[in-house]
Amino acid sequence: MDLKIKPIKNNVFFIGSKDCNRKLFDQLVPLPQGTTYNSYLVKGSEKTAIVDTDYPKKLEEYKKRLQENSITKVDYIISNHAEQDHSGGIPMLLEMFPEAKVVTNAKVKENVINMLHVNEDKFIVINDGDELSLGDKTFQFIIAPFVHWPDTMFSYLKEDKMLFTCDFLGAHYTKHELFADCSEGLKEAAKRYYAEIIMPFRNFAKKYTDKVKSMDIDMILPSHGPVYDKPQWILDLYADWTSDRVENKVVIPYVSMYESTTMLVNRLSKKLSNAGIEVKLFDLVHCDEGELSMELVDCATVVLGSSMVLAGPHPAAVTAAYLVNALRPKLRYYSIIGSYGWGGNLEGTIEKMFTIIKPEKLDYVIVKGQPRTADFEKIDLLANEIIEKHKNL
Ligand code: FEO
Repeated sequence: MDLKIKPIKNNVFFIGSKDCNRKLFDQLVPLPQGTTYNSYLVKGSEKTAIVDTDYPKKLEEYKKRLQENSITKVDYIISNHAEQDHSGGIPMLLEMFPEAKVVTNAKVKENVINMLHVNEDKFIVINDGDELSLGDKTFQFIIAPFVHWPDTMFSYLKEDKMLFTCDFLGAHYTKHELFADCSEGLKEAAKRYYAEIIMPFRNFAKKYTDKVKSMDIDMILPSHGPVYDKPQWILDLYADWTSDRVENKVVIPYVSMYESTTMLVNRLSKKLSNAGIEVKLFDLVHCDEGELSMELVDCATVVLGSSMVLAGPHPAAVTAAYLVNALRPKLRYYSIIGSYGWGGNLEGTIEKMFTIIKPEKLDYVIVKGQPRTADFEKIDLLANEIIEKHKNL
């Protein structure tokens, strides 16, 4: 248990928790190295504020940290977003500091009341552009919906040029002391985080990336992962990930019961690779969904491979199609390949998963039993179709 608080700059401190042992986020997203729940203490000449709090399972540690470091007066709890990994500590803080008010927008207020049963009279509701004075420090609030909930906002500490962005620009990363090392490892963690949490709201993320780029900012302080004292690094990555640019890359998530689908996948993969296309294969039985999500950020084409089970696609392929649709990547093309034993409809259920995204459909290759020469020739035609399409990316 690390009870230290960490000075960042000018009476701004990191008071949150590291959770290196957590394996899953939202009971869904793998966390290869855990995560952090970033909470910040900001001491002004007259008032003291906490920006976002801590995860419910870390509250005992969080409370001890505040007590050990003699944090005896808090006037404001600024809540940028109501998801409980950041708002979970609000009831405890209100018990510790009964005079404190929760400063937030109307949507966060409604969510916090519903999720944490905080009394209505504990809130100060702000609107976009409103300011809050701590004496020699001033917060200005920026309502930034859908990065990633409808309630999200940023808090800008004007005098110190520090922007608290909550989930936006964050990373499930723990190999840092405080500041971002801008390493390849952090880049991968930030991309994984973007893919799973922010990519479904890419247009909003693009809008707010542009907005943050236009601001006068020395430091970005997100609610997961390191603090960016060189904010341009993460902003440039987001500018690329949220752009319309796709790479000359094909992602092939597949599941194969008796190797027939694997044979099709391997043939397609070889043809595409020989043409200079980057191919990423994911055997869905052993797949880390986070790695698949990362490759979806900038791939141009997805080819789903599946065996037939009970006259329909294998459930693993249906889940993968659901995930692709839910994450809303900037995908241009898709196809389905696979094999069946005695009959059914392999493609219908997968097609029905694409309710949000509308990539262009390429030819499907569905074969009976183990593929024959004519089936491989169909795979070669599909490969040629993809190669031609990718020439115009
Ligand atoms: Fe890190 Fe949307 O909570």
